[in-house]
Amino acid sequence: MFRSLFLSCALSLAAISSVSAKDSAGSNALMSYDAIQHPVMAENGMVSAQDRIAAEVGRDILARGGNAIDAAVATGFALAVTHPQAGNLGGGGFMMVHLAETGEVLALDFREMAPDGATRDMYLGSDGEVDNRLAQYSRLSAGVPGTVMGLLEALEKYGTMTRREVMGPSVRLAAKGFPLSYAMAEGLEASREQLSVDESSVDYFLGRKSGERFVQEDLAKTLRRIMKSGAKEFYEGKTAELIVAEMQEGRGVMTLQDLANYKTVTRKAVSGNYKGHTLYAMSPPSSGGVHIVQMLNILSGYNLKGDGHNSAAYLHKLIEVMRRAYADRSKYLGDPDFVDVPVAALTAQSYADTLRESISVTVASKSSEISPGAKLPYESVNTTHYSVIDKMGNAVSVTYTLNFSYGSGYSVDGAGFLLNNEMDDFSAKPGSPNGYGLIGGEANKIEPRKRPLSSMTPVIVKKEGKVVLVTGSPGGSTIITSVLQMVLNVIEWDMNMAEAVNKPRIHHQWLPDIVIAEPGISHDTLRRLEAMGHNLPKDEKGGFAQTVLGRVNSVGQSQGIVVGSADPRGPDSATAGY
Ligand code: DON
Repeated sequence: MFRSLFLSCALSLAAISSVSAKDSAGSNALMSYDAIQHPVMAENGMVSAQDRIAAEVGRDILARGGNAIDAAVATGFALAVTHPQAGNLGGGGFMMVHLAETGEVLALDFREMAPDGATRDMYLGSDGEVDNRLAQYSRLSAGVPGTVMGLLEALEKYGTMTRREVMGPSVRLAAKGFPLSYAMAEGLEASREQLSVDESSVDYFLGRKSGERFVQEDLAKTLRRIMKSGAKEFYEGKTAELIVAEMQEGRGVMTLQDLANYKTVTRKAVSGNYKGHTLYAMSPPSSGGVHIVQMLNILSGYNLKGDGHNSAAYLHKLIEVMRRAYADRSKYLGDPDFVDVPVAALTAQSYADTLRESISVTVASKSSEISPGAKLPYESVNTTHYSVIDKMGNAVSVTYTLNFSYGSGYSVDGAGFLLNNEMDDFSAKPGSPNGYGLIGGEANKIEPRKRPLSSMTPVIVKKEGKVVLVTGSPGGSTIITSVLQMVLNVIEWDMNMAEAVNKPRIHHQWLPDIVIAEPGISHDTLRRLEAMGHNLPKDEKGGFAQTVLGRVNSVGQSQGIVVGSADPRGPDSATAGY
């Protein structure tokens, strides 16, 4: 026994010393052994996602010789089956793709578009106020879905496998079922009220027990049709007809023409530099890329290391930077196909330098008018992010969503999937907060064929030509700040991937003027922030209210292997490598 214990110690010591030797070659610490928490490590490729079954579907595609794009498409379709609160056919999102051969990073926009029947005031009631039920929980809250076209276009342009190969696993998961996790069964039950508005949602999703096989026959048929005939089937075939029939059940305005008009757009990634790393992120209609670069530019002028991680001095600077970025978001950001978004100006170092001058390092500034006691709505976990890397160094970062958990609550009868409520990401009325408390104006007003402004921030970070980090997050308005802290944890604080993912985070979004802090940030620190003038909401007992933020499922490369970490904030999250 001593002998085997000795041998296993000797083996791990050997592993440690070989890693340390490579560490000293100057690469990042993403897999450092000198830590309490450790990332998953593998030789060839990896998928990190909010659901284990879907992560393993992607991993198996990699192991069978598929590239990161093949695996990302397979994972995306699998999540539509195994993670219906956010994985979807009826929603939309963004995909960042790093192509190892050319070093290019592409930004694929498959965000939903407003139907032609949409009008600026479509969600206003007779009192002139936003009718939130209509904007968030009705067939009218659905934008034209982009996911199917987005995933299949990525496969066609950058993948190597057939539709059958990448969609086969999701067809089987839907047709044969899979054991329902405790968290998913509970999540469905917790959404009973929202899903009960629609008979087919009740039929498809309610009354499920943890551990039972969850079979989705109609969804399997839809996936099979798409697998056979491609995206055209979804936008012009039987699925399109089922979507329109669902609209006609009440209040929906989406037509066959709207579906046929849907387009994905390949956009120029927003990029920025931070301490020897280049970050590529999603361009508008996401606000994520612009503001993450803007915030890093401001932060680059401070000696953050001198403050200490998650100290009051550090968090104060993050808050002030977030406050300024979200103020700009509310004014300048929208769909670039409709409004001029000043991307270059907002991401210019000189602009960041000016903003930094307006920050006191000891005293909180005030956001303009807020209603006292205003609170961010509870952040239900709904959007989902997954990250993929292959052995060639191709990488894919995908955030996609139905908006809220289970979207609008309405399912397409006969097709087995939920409709998004992404129209609520538009500014339904200037100055009136949306479901995430975000304020918007002209740039994000509703117009036919326009894409609602998003906070989704899939990111790819490279250093010396290599992808070191692929990350992103769900969390509505809190996405950008969660991703910012993940990026800082890796680049500024040299944390390994697991520590970087796990560390507690904070959030501020200009309005309402409150700091949201995760459990794990010490109350001493929060008291210091309060003393600087920051508003921190209290719970019923008078203690600091603390809320969980984001799920940053991440992968990267370090010293010739791949590393990854799924966010422990997601009960079913997993990283699968080979
Ligand atoms: O695009 C957006 O910004 C939102 N629709 C994302 C929603 C979201 O992240 C919800 N997740 N917790």
